[in-house]
Amino acid sequence: MVRLSWFGHAAWQIEFRRCKVIIDPFLNGNPSASISPDEIKGVDYVLVTHDHSDHLGDAVEIAKANRAKFVSIFETSNYARKGGLPDDDIISMNIGSLNDFGTIHIGLVPAVHSGNPTGFIIMSDDKTIYHAGDTALFGDMKLIGDMYKPDVALLPIGGFFTMGPEEAALAAKMIKAKVTMPMHFNTFEAIKQDPERFARGLTGITDVRILKPGESTEI
Ligand code: NI
Ligand code: MN
Repeated sequence: MVRLSWFGHAAWQIEFRRCKVIIDPFLNGNPSASISPDEIKGVDYVLVTHDHSDHLGDAVEIAKANRAKFVSIFETSNYARKGGLPDDDIISMNIGSLNDFGTIHIGLVPAVHSGNPTGFIIMSDDKTIYHAGDTALFGDMKLIGDMYKPDVALLPIGGFFTMGPEEAALAAKMIKAKVTMPMHFNTFEAIKQDPERFARGLTGITDVRILKPGESTEI
């Protein structure tokens, strides 16, 4: 059993049997955050998709407090270095492959956005999660689906900075994860969306689960 908790915006915690991961922990200053950084305990890996403040958020502080590994693309890992994390606790990788860390496999995949954007493939306990980060719709999402066959896809649907509900619905059709969950919406006025617009039309294709910030689901 793998437990996924949404803390609002793009922040997710994933509890595998042997390790605990947090992704894009933007909690301080996030009006939809359901938890504060000092309540995050026992995390082994802090994953950051890109260096925009609504994703990097409290990642360095949480990695420090938990003695967790900070995982990101090279350019983003410089913030961890400048923030005083020891080199041993920084995993600075790049897009291209799924990498074995013993209890977990982690890989970076492309995302279409400004800066140095990435998505994550995370695999443990025979479950594979795709966190798309901030991204536009792009055709290689089909390739990501074919290659990694994710059990869960976490997709931004808010529009304005990322895919909107219609683009994200086509992304979900290309990725074909067993479970698909929307994120990166309703945090701010600019990304106000009705998630049902995303879910409509995906019946029978993927199990769409719409969480509220603070809620969890199991797969
Ligand atoms: Ni961004
Ligand atoms: Mn964002």
